[in-house]
Amino acid sequence: MPPQLVTLHSLDPQRLAAEAAQGLLRPQAALPPKFFYDALGSRLFDAITLLPEYDLTRNEAALFATHRSAIAAAVGAAGATLVDVGAGSGAKAAAWFAALGTRRYLALDISCDFLAGALDALAGAHPQVAMCGVGLDFTAALALPPELLSGPALVFYPGSSIGNFAPAEALALLVQMRQLAGPGGALLIGVDLLKPVAEMEAAYDDALGLTAAFNRNLLAHLNRLLGSDFAPRQWRHRAVWNAATQAVEMHLHAREALTVRWPGAERRFAAGEGIHTENAHKWRVEAFAALLRRAGFEAVQTWTDAGERFAVMVGR
Ligand code: AVI
Repeated sequence: MPPQLVTLHSLDPQRLAAEAAQGLLRPQAALPPKFFYDALGSRLFDAITLLPEYDLTRNEAALFATHRSAIAAAVGAAGATLVDVGAGSGAKAAAWFAALGTRRYLALDISCDFLAGALDALAGAHPQVAMCGVGLDFTAALALPPELLSGPALVFYPGSSIGNFAPAEALALLVQMRQLAGPGGALLIGVDLLKPVAEMEAAYDDALGLTAAFNRNLLAHLNRLLGSDFAPRQWRHRAVWNAATQAVEMHLHAREALTVRWPGAERRFAAGEGIHTENAHKWRVEAFAALLRRAGFEAVQTWTDAGERFAVMVGR
């Protein structure tokens, strides 16, 4: 059966454009990281995961491969329905279908074009799994209509994407995931852990400049969404550790004084002035397990590598 595709109202381009404009007009301009993920941004992120400096994805994949049966046992029957939050290519989730006995796969992503192509490819390789792509901005609200999801599910949120939320926002999102999973459901989540600052900064400022391209691509995306006239070459990428917030911050800094215009508004940037585009929070295992418990997950199991660089957790 070909994958079903549904777009929920929260993807409304006008609402997204208004949110982007509001972020640009703040005294310290800041945009939520969801604006990275147009079709090119999603592909650039996939490429970042292959970089030597960015070991999150490899560390998580190694934990998944080593502990697959123990993790599947912890998830139990909930794995029959897999809800992939921020699915991207869907490849990470698909690697779990056999171990979890998945019959139904719901792939949620803000980038609908990317999702459609990804699901077509996955459906051919996994004919036994009913697939549905849901285009939605889950940072606005993470809920699915009952015709799409009823009964217990495994919510899958790998890749330390939870790190892109400040702790209070992360808690709010985890509470919604707990509700989405339903009674008898579970959460399988990956979390990047604290490590030496130079390593954390290099992961977000690689030698090839892929992360810089990923960051600047956000401006090209905004030009289409908002009708703005950003010239990406005029902006310099910067990644810096913020010890107070325990996050690597990404910024774009104007190389010279400039004005960005879009229908109905403009924003002047002084030379060196920045747009804050992302926080990537890093956690200690105990602190994140406590956050899961506060969100309503009673039983939390954790797997980490020998160097304690990354953690995979199941909450039930
Ligand atoms: C998707 N997210 C978990 C990535 C991260 O590490 O925060 C996004 C990213 N930003 C720069 N490189 C990767």
